[in-house]
Amino acid sequence: MNLEEWLGVTLSDHAQHFNIQRRLLEDLVGYHLGLSWGELQLQKQRALDDELIESLAIAVRRLAAGEPLAYIIGEKFFFKSMFSVDSRVLIPRPETEILVEKALPLLDHSSKTVLDLGTGSGCIGLSLAKERPQSRFYLIDSSLDALAVCRVNQDSLRLDNVTIVHGTVGKASFDGPWDSGAVDLIVANPPYIAEGDDRVTSSVHGFEPHSALYTGEEGLECHRLWLEWSFRQLRPGGHFLFEFGKDQEDPIAAFIHQTDYSIIEVVEDYARIKRFFILQK
Ligand SMILES: C[S@@+](CC[C@H](N)C(=O)[O-])C[C@H]1O[C@@H](n2cnc3c(N)ncnc32)[C@H](O)[C@@H]1O
Repeated sequence: MNLEEWLGVTLSDHAQHFNIQRRLLEDLVGYHLGLSWGELQLQKQRALDDELIESLAIAVRRLAAGEPLAYIIGEKFFFKSMFSVDSRVLIPRPETEILVEKALPLLDHSSKTVLDLGTGSGCIGLSLAKERPQSRFYLIDSSLDALAVCRVNQDSLRLDNVTIVHGTVGKASFDGPWDSGAVDLIVANPPYIAEGDDRVTSSVHGFEPHSALYTGEEGLECHRLWLEWSFRQLRPGGHFLFEFGKDQEDPIAAFIHQTDYSIIEVVEDYARIKRFFILQK
């Protein structure tokens, strides 16, 4: 069977029932063959051997059950690097790359101290650490499982300006190995979905770690606690840059107004939805 025939048969078997898109299948085959999507388009007559067809059949059954492709193939490209991912970490989202782009100009090439709160796979902190080797990065998460994945990514990117820290951000007793009150920049993509929110897709709710998704009855608990905690860590003039969910700008702004941060910018994502705050202490 060649590639085009396999795509046709698989789509007609699964597409209507399980909403598997052609592009998803192409990405899956491309991963197995080591081809980019563009290269794959030029090789549609390529023969697939029986062993590959069997591996693809297993992967397609997982896709049909709603499992995200990134967990099946074990990796996700983010910013400029490939990250290992599995069910212990949130899959890095494309819009979060905007947070990295906005953070970079806040870090010149001198030595700075940076915290990444709720680092998960490490996609934000490690991407920044790769671009700013003179700075020292502390990547924090309350999940030891997530930090094990982060460590794999740190090792594969060979970054020695990164310290991985286990801790619960927001807990008054949590102190890291940096100088509190002297941090230059804090970045974060906190959990921001309300517990029990039934708009979350079954693929996300069923497969991604709940500790990365849900926080409190309104989805704002982490933001509230992390704003207060971060204020104590930052030096005067330091920045806090973080992501938030759709329609959360106003309630989070209300928390901010109870503090002494200045709002520098509210940044939109690719869909022109307000998605990030840049604050200064
Ligand atoms: C939305 S995920 C973000 C992961 C990654 N930074 C990204 O952008 O893909 C949130 C992360 O915060 C962690 N987390 C949740 N509550 C936390 C807390 N109180 N302190 C530290 N980490 C926490 C979760 O384990 C999860 O890895």
